[in-house]
Amino acid sequence: MRAWILLLLPFILILVIEVNGQRRRPRPTAGRPTKRPTPPAPEPVEPTDLPPPLPPGPPSVFPDCPKECYCPADFPSTLYCDSRNLRKVPTLPSRARYVYLQNNFIDDLQEEAFKNATELQWINLDNNRIKKVEKKILEKMDNLTYLYLEKNQLKEVPSYLPPRLEQLRLSRNQISKIPPGVFSKMGHLILLDLHHNKLSDGVFNKNTFKGLNGLIQLNLAHNILRKMPPTVPESVNQLFLDKNNIEDIPNDYFKDLPNLAFLRLNYNQLSEKGIPKNTFNISSLLVLQLSHNKLSVVPPINAKLEHLYLNDNIIEKVNGTEMCPLPFAPYDFTSFDFTSIPRLRYLRLDGNQLKPPIPLDIIMCFRLLQSVVI
Ligand SMILES: *[C@@H]1O[C@H](CO)[C@@H](O)[C@H](O)[C@H]1NC(C)=O
Ligand SMILES: *[C@@H]1O[C@H](CO)[C@@H](O)[C@H](O)[C@H]1NC(C)=O
Ligand SMILES: *[C@@H]1O[C@H](CO)[C@@H](O)[C@H](O)[C@H]1NC(C)=O
Ligand SMILES: *[C@@H]1O[C@H](CO)[C@@H](O)[C@H](O)[C@H]1NC(C)=O
Repeated sequence: MRAWILLLLPFILILVIEVNGQRRRPRPTAGRPTKRPTPPAPEPVEPTDLPPPLPPGPPSVFPDCPKECYCPADFPSTLYCDSRNLRKVPTLPSRARYVYLQNNFIDDLQEEAFKNATELQWINLDNNRIKKVEKKILEKMDNLTYLYLEKNQLKEVPSYLPPRLEQLRLSRNQISKIPPGVFSKMGHLILLDLHHNKLSDGVFNKNTFKGLNGLIQLNLAHNILRKMPPTVPESVNQLFLDKNNIEDIPNDYFKDLPNLAFLRLNYNQLSEKGIPKNTFNISSLLVLQLSHNKLSVVPPINAKLEHLYLNDNIIEKVNGTEMCPLPFAPYDFTSFDFTSIPRLRYLRLDGNQLKPPIPLDIIMCFRLLQSVVI
């Protein structure tokens, strides 16, 4: 039975060949006079330039529902106060657990607004103008599990964080500082998103992430790092470092991350010179993204890897025999061991100096390949 499945495999293989340079070009709009785009209106600078707040909605079944919010009758713990031109947080009733305040113009969190809401669990403050979150406010939110503060004007990670937090989203701010020890008691944190900020190498030391014993996803993409962070919590499964200026990776860097399965390093400055030979040959890794770097050869990979992105590098040649993570030998169709074939299913090689066809030895090695883009 097994041998029968295997014989079919090469036929199931679908090869997507997208030849570079054959992409469609936009058609010229012949004959029509091209209109000059009118310059966009300047962004409003001060709240006084903004449209007036929306009029209050219909009366709520809850007499304590702030007039700026919608309090659905069947979800007494939820308040929708998002996208309403709010300049400040309305006074929240004590039953509030889930509060949506995103897409407003809030620039400060006043203590009075949160005084009664001591059992908050989620608060979404994305897309506001918050510059700082005072310790005394977050200290009152000991039940908070989700804190969303994306797209604000924070310059540093808040100096106090509620100890039960599971998700902290701080992307798209101006963060260039992490107060020492701020994560030291944050053993429940699962997701830490700091992408699109102004973090540089000097911000990190060996103890920065100490205490994050349950962290699964760490996103540091789109910052100004030139080096890998000195330590990453051992529990991390997803590490995103795209769009930095990382040139090299220390020896055995990933050996201390036995749970790492998703690694993204797209848009960096990596070349062979900066990568010790077996850096990415780690058996926990399932997805490895190295597109838009300066690699000229395919780095050694592990047989367990399923997705490999090497597009937009400067690779001139691939040799499937050398790339194959397991001894390259003709397969014995009669006694076939399914665990002994490389698991690679998706391979991107486009945007390099390679030309189709896909070398036969790649297809011979990676029998589970479903898609190759060259
Ligand atoms: C806060 O709680 C106190 C005591 O339960 C209550 O008297 C007061 O009206 C509440 N304030 C608001 C704004 O809900
Ligand atoms: C909030 O936290 C307290 C302990 O600090 C706990 O007793 C209470 O059950 C929590 N409330 C909710 C809704 O989780
Ligand atoms: C990759 O690592 C495995 C052990 O996990 C080892 O057997 C293999 O030789 C390594 N590959 C290369 C190219 O060094
Ligand atoms: C690929 O590498 C193997 C082993 O290094 C070598 O024997 C073979 O000739 C190479 N194939 C090509 C097409 O260069």
